[in-house]
Amino acid sequence: MGSRLIGAVSAIAYIVLTGLLLTAPAGAQTQSSFRNPVLPLDASGNDSPDPWLFRHDGRYWINYTSDGQLVYRSARVLDGLADAREHRIWPPEGQTEPVERSAELWAPETHRIGNRWYVYYTATTAGTGIYSHRIYVLESKSDSPAGPYRFKAELSLPQPYAIDGTVFELKGKLYLAYSGGPLFTPASIYLAELSNPWTVKGLPIEVSTPEYDWEKQSFAINEGPEALIHGGRLNLIFSASWCGSGLYALGRLTVPAGADLIDPATWADSKFPDPVFETDAARGVYGPGHGSFFSTNGGKEWWNVYHATDQAGKGCFTGGLRTTRVQRFTWNWDGTPRFGRPASLGNDLVAPKPDRTIAIQAELKRSFRPSARASRIEDSRFFGYAGMTLKPKGGKLPAMKFGILRKGRYRLYLRVLGGPQAGWLKLVRPDARNVFRKLARPRERVVNLDLGTINLNRGRRFLRLRSGQPVTLDQIRLQPERK
Ligand code: AHR
Repeated sequence: MGSRLIGAVSAIAYIVLTGLLLTAPAGAQTQSSFRNPVLPLDASGNDSPDPWLFRHDGRYWINYTSDGQLVYRSARVLDGLADAREHRIWPPEGQTEPVERSAELWAPETHRIGNRWYVYYTATTAGTGIYSHRIYVLESKSDSPAGPYRFKAELSLPQPYAIDGTVFELKGKLYLAYSGGPLFTPASIYLAELSNPWTVKGLPIEVSTPEYDWEKQSFAINEGPEALIHGGRLNLIFSASWCGSGLYALGRLTVPAGADLIDPATWADSKFPDPVFETDAARGVYGPGHGSFFSTNGGKEWWNVYHATDQAGKGCFTGGLRTTRVQRFTWNWDGTPRFGRPASLGNDLVAPKPDRTIAIQAELKRSFRPSARASRIEDSRFFGYAGMTLKPKGGKLPAMKFGILRKGRYRLYLRVLGGPQAGWLKLVRPDARNVFRKLARPRERVVNLDLGTINLNRGRRFLRLRSGQPVTLDQIRLQPERK
């Protein structure tokens, strides 16, 4: 079965299932409110600085700086993170790291690029002080942010001290933003294009260096850059001043999303002259910064994730009380974020609305039909679920049809039940960027496939899959992507 057949098919990727219109599923666990910190000090008093919180397949995932290891937690609701188990990503149990990347593992971020996950993190050589930090990349061996991972590369960067790498895609290009300099201060924000997730293309350019007093509290530092793209604008939100000072704050650089990002002239006058999110002693919030952003409810809600302390000057190297907080933010007319004031701890905040995920169970019936209640299966231990085995004719699997209630961009997840033989599954897409997945490796009974995003109009839609062998589909899930 090759791309010949695929190419010949007027590839229109739809989701089709017996013409029934489906509504969003009931049954997904939801919460109406949550409280900060979403990640308080743990039982041993460990904090959770530099939180990278993202959504995937209907769950919340978080990475943070954690005592020399790269870790994640995952939960169905924000309030669930505090009690969720901390899982180690790196180094794997029993593996010791080469000395040059064995100390002070900081600020991990898990990013999905293509059909793999990449973790960007900072580390230094044990025993040499904090001036030799480099940025490293791990690559997932599977389709899940949980890993397992393999070491991929050190990013080749000219600054002796380079930390806090983050990546973002814009207009078909992949970029790296990070903090660095000759020493840990003054630290500037740099930007580079990547030719692939682990290779820097050309020379990075400096896009921000500390210039205002609010960027020079204790030490002159710009770090923890994070991209926020909205309304035709690229906002690079960065953290300013020393992370141990009670005056750590967020700053903002804003440029047109279509500009030449690697031209230094693009960034002239891009810095907003005041902090955009800062200490609020009246609310007992000190040193908010180095976080991340996510959206929910199909892009109608946006969330600011950050660390802060409830006592001034208890940040990095000064007491370690940086806990993870989340709060909503809105947008100004010009595509820049309006973060407002940091929220006091302990208040009930309105929780994110659950995504209107559409889920269809594949039943062992003559034809696909939605279960009586299109429910959400989150737990991949659902071995017991009956799947429907589709047998290919000339590589084509039977079409599946159902109706879409709301036109939009959806991320498509397929859950297939493994079989005795290894195999493959291909999604035929309208843009011919077909998605290919290996299937059913004997050791995996349930395989979650993230087949990327597709635009779907309202009405009857169908999915065309290709395969070389029978495929047992368990569940199809469509998650609305942000607008
Ligand atoms: O929290 C550890 C480090 O402290 C982070 O990587 C950086 O943003 C800050 O300097």
